[in-house]
Amino acid sequence: MPCSRKFWVLKDTCRDEVTTDYFEEEEEDLEDLRKGEIMCRALFISVDPITRLHIAYSDPGQPILGRQVARVVESRNTDFPKGKLLVVAMGWSNYSIVDPTMTQEMGGVEVPLCETLPRQLENASLPKSSAMGLLGIPGLTAYLGLTELAKAEEGETIVITSAAGQMGHLVGQLARHMGLRVIGFTGCSDKASWIKTELMYDWAFNYKTQDVKQALNIAAPNGVDIFWDAVGGDLANTILPYMSYYGRVIMVGNLANYGNMDNPVSISMIDLAIHLKELTITGFNVYRYYHMWEDAREALVKLFKEEKIKPYEHVVEGFEFLPEVFVNQMNGKYQENYIQNIPSIFVVG
Ligand SMILES: NC(=O)c1ccc[n+]([C@@H]2O[C@H](COP(=O)([O-])OP(=O)(O)OC[C@H]3O[C@@H](n4cnc5c(N)ncnc54)[C@H](OP(=O)(O)O)[C@@H]3O)[C@@H](O)[C@H]2O)c1
Repeated sequence: MPCSRKFWVLKDTCRDEVTTDYFEEEEEDLEDLRKGEIMCRALFISVDPITRLHIAYSDPGQPILGRQVARVVESRNTDFPKGKLLVVAMGWSNYSIVDPTMTQEMGGVEVPLCETLPRQLENASLPKSSAMGLLGIPGLTAYLGLTELAKAEEGETIVITSAAGQMGHLVGQLARHMGLRVIGFTGCSDKASWIKTELMYDWAFNYKTQDVKQALNIAAPNGVDIFWDAVGGDLANTILPYMSYYGRVIMVGNLANYGNMDNPVSISMIDLAIHLKELTITGFNVYRYYHMWEDAREALVKLFKEEKIKPYEHVVEGFEFLPEVFVNQMNGKYQENYIQNIPSIFVVG
């Protein structure tokens, strides 16, 4: 058994653009397990943009948060025997000791810190990492957001921002399957052509190089029924006036402001849009629907088996690459070693 663990911490307060210089790897001794505790070894660590928001509110020295698929390598808890595979919220750490009965509050719901791998993985040819992709937060958010909140209906038009992202690429495919007209915005022309040609979005645009208003005039001449807003800020501001009457805006994230919490870009068009178009604008946290995750996973696996939806993942070998991979993910940059149009990124612990 290992006698120490490695983990990443925040080196300095980060209020602006994140770089790899803000991260530091530390090592500490692992203590003997107490009754009820388990030791986990990270197999895959999920790289997620929400980490940018955590960092904005973290002090130097604090560990970097995140989810991992891990294997129990030592146990003093009979419900969590050695060898069991779990999804655990143990951050950027290669080994962790945890009391698996602990819970954490997420979006107003108390959820376990350690969960067994979704049982749906057993009968599907999906990698274990998809417990944090298609069958994890990105897939569940996409499915439950579209079905429970947006109440998407055939024939409607949806606009998705960060449309080639780990959640966005699943939202787009699900919406296509539900018979919606799908318009995706991404910050890279390669990604735009990927979601158009491979994922069969009806329209795809690079919001950095193309005129968003002109794009919407062409792609949504009758307006937008559902706006899946992962970005907020200026991009949301530009899209909101294109909503149809009674349109639904699902605010799932705020990528534009995660690194800019001191001066967030507010949405100035919001008052007018709500009033004139009678819009419903809803914040969404997937944990609100925690009680529906099991059914949502069943539906997602069925769609996967029927080849209606295909998750894309990229696995990077090397715990030491975590900061670099995260920074690349945040700025959407193409790097030789990381194919950025493969949305979900997992680092092998
Ligand atoms: N509400 C929930 O329950 C829930 C659950 C999961 C995720 N989320 C949120 O949903 C959003 C998407 O999450 P994800 O995990 O699927 O990540 P993601 O979309 O794969 O995020 C990475 C991508 O975000 C885009 N991006 C980064 N900074 C940006 C900026 N300033 N402006 C516009 N785009 C930017 C880049 O893509 P481009 O190159 O295309 O710009 C980047 O490749 C995040 O805001 C996340 O926090 C919410």
